[in-house]
Amino acid sequence: MKIRVLILFAGCLGSLITATHTLQTDQAILYSNFADRPSVKRVAVIGAGSAGSSAAHYLRKYSDDLAMPINITIFERNAYIGGRSTTVNAYDDPLKPVELGASIFVEVNRNLVQAAKEFNLSTSSLSHVRTRLGNDAPILGVWNGKEFVVTQSAGNSWWNNAKLLWKYGLAPIRTMRLMRGTVSKFFSMYDEPCFPFADLTQVAYDLGLTAVTAVTGEQYLREHGIADLFAREIIQASTRVNYAQNLPLIHGLETMVCMATDGAMAVEGGNWQMFEGMVQASRADVRLQTQVTALDELENGTYLVRSVATDSATAAQDRQEELFDTIILAAPYQFSNITINSPLAHVPDKIPYVTLHVTLFASPHLLSPAAFNLPPGQAVPQIILTTLPADEPASARPDGVGSPGFFSISLLQPTTNDRHSPPRPEYLYKIFSPDRVNATFLSRILGLDRTSDLAEDDDDDELVAADDVSWLYRKVWQSYPYEYPRVTFEKLRLSGARRGNGIWYTAGIESLISTMETSSLMGMNVARLIADEWVEEGEEEEKVRGLWR
Ligand SMILES: Cc1cc2nc3c(=O)[nH]c(=O)nc-3n(C[C@H](O)[C@H](O)[C@H](O)COP(=O)(O)OP(=O)(O)OC[C@H]3O[C@@H](n4cnc5c(N)ncnc54)[C@H](O)[C@@H]3O)c2cc1C
Ligand SMILES: *[C@@H]1O[C@H](CO)[C@@H](O)[C@H](O)[C@H]1NC(C)=O
Ligand SMILES: *[C@@H]1O[C@H](CO)[C@@H](O)[C@H](O)[C@H]1NC(C)=O
Ligand SMILES: *[C@@H]1O[C@H](CO)[C@@H](O)[C@H](O)[C@H]1NC(C)=O
Ligand SMILES: *[C@@H]1O[C@H](CO)[C@@H](O)[C@H](O)[C@H]1NC(C)=O
Ligand SMILES: *[C@@H]1O[C@H](CO)[C@@H](O)[C@H](O)[C@H]1NC(C)=O
Repeated sequence: MKIRVLILFAGCLGSLITATHTLQTDQAILYSNFADRPSVKRVAVIGAGSAGSSAAHYLRKYSDDLAMPINITIFERNAYIGGRSTTVNAYDDPLKPVELGASIFVEVNRNLVQAAKEFNLSTSSLSHVRTRLGNDAPILGVWNGKEFVVTQSAGNSWWNNAKLLWKYGLAPIRTMRLMRGTVSKFFSMYDEPCFPFADLTQVAYDLGLTAVTAVTGEQYLREHGIADLFAREIIQASTRVNYAQNLPLIHGLETMVCMATDGAMAVEGGNWQMFEGMVQASRADVRLQTQVTALDELENGTYLVRSVATDSATAAQDRQEELFDTIILAAPYQFSNITINSPLAHVPDKIPYVTLHVTLFASPHLLSPAAFNLPPGQAVPQIILTTLPADEPASARPDGVGSPGFFSISLLQPTTNDRHSPPRPEYLYKIFSPDRVNATFLSRILGLDRTSDLAEDDDDDELVAADDVSWLYRKVWQSYPYEYPRVTFEKLRLSGARRGNGIWYTAGIESLISTMETSSLMGMNVARLIADEWVEEGEEEEKVRGLWR
């Protein structure tokens, strides 16, 4: 037993110090025993996505355990909670929400699964969603711009599908083993002694993850004897739909994360409800449509937060300046438009993010077989992933999209257009692409020769679609970083030295793994680091008090 503990500690040296300062009941008692309790800690959380919501939620939990009074304020510039996890309503009908950003998580995502349970949210498994169409369409196909190189009909996992084993030999099994080995290292980040980690670079190194982020997916797979054919046709299809990146660019760890699909699920009605649940449970003062513009570190170590609230009805702006002890910046710094005025500040590097066009639309038409070089009458796969042809270099364009021209087209579900008279059955689609989807493209994939009906309207830049495309919604995201191989990651603390004070930063984890779960882990981790420092502060004050007794 002792030996096991020792090994664990050796594997995570960076966390040795903090692991000895974990929250315990006697420390909670210690706090409540203070004659004059520490003043209320004022915490500002900037951003109500997965990271900010989780930071607020867990900070409230930890401070409740310590019986410590805190006051959390969440600033969010959008009018909604969830950040890159959000839904829009098909046909503007609130009964038909569709995920516009992050759509799936998996059973090993501990924080999200826990949140769905805690807030009584129903989840639906993705294999269930995919089998609703009921015609003979394959569920999934991988298109290379000329042909489908793979199609899959049953809802099996990618690694135990007999047809794939026949075609690729041992590669699926090897990939599955490699994925499980690699991804399991990551789970140590949730538990002592690694958790909480004060330094992302160190913990990634200690857990052996740096060896996997230092190389491209292509290199990592070759090193482990996974044949190029399987890598290109299956794994790259997955890195493209999940991260809009090809194997010669994306690092090995994020490549493995793409293959960890077991138990894929989504919260019915929208994943953002997990984050709304967390925000409510945090009892924070929530300021929507309020953008933080500057953080000023004052001489006494407190921070002045400048914000602008915009009234959506009148567009009137309300500027405020408030003091906080602790700031959690839970958004990529480069997109936050915040000026940090602190002599000690570490400013996160600007890193390239993917610009992803998400296009949602409804149509009475199925996808056209001709658009995918299939004979007339043959059903097109419900989910079209893409890869590059064998003879096409991956670097043909900076975005890597290559000859397919898009990353994925999914028929999400059959639906009903109630705005049509009489209501008629339609299909709901989602496209991921590096460019704006235009009328020519849409009419081609839907097999319409009536391009004129789909003419672009120059005035509002929207598609005039009439009968063929009854509803359309566009969103351009800075969706995730280009996951270039790297071995160092942004600091968690941008400013401030001790006692939980300072500016903490969550988005550095996106260069390691960019998902809702990892952002949540980072929010939880930062919350724990802050709470642990408050405990240390309490212990120091207790010692000083002891000297004077
Ligand atoms: C199209 C798409 C598909 C994806 N698919 C998946 C998926 O299937 N599964 C998955 O796990 N992940 C997926 N992701 C990634 C996932 O969405 C992100 O990794 C995760 O949601 C990031 O959470 P976050 O809290 O770190 O950042 P964000 O969600 O970006 O939250 C940051 C918040 O901060 C706010 N903010 C920024 N600056 C300020 C300011 N100055 N003042 C006030 N507020 C500010 C922003 O408005 C935003 O709400 C996808 C992303 C996209 C775009
Ligand atoms: C918490 O802080 C906010 C912002 O400073 C303030 O408006 C609010 O009154 C405080 N609430 C409590 C309970 O102290
Ligand atoms: C979830 O459901 C349980 C049992 O029905 C209930 O006790 C609990 O209060 C609910 N929680 C929330 C957050 O609604
Ligand atoms: C810190 O300094 C500011 C500005 O001088 C002041 O308003 C605030 O009360 C001080 N806070 C503390 C905790 O001393
Ligand atoms: C942030 O700043 C950039 C560049 O100055 C600008 O294009 C963008 O609109 C700003 N975003 C917000 C939300 O203020
Ligand atoms: C429409 O999109 C296609 C595919 O992205 C592109 O090749 C074509 O140039 C675009 N046409 C116009 C008129 O923008």
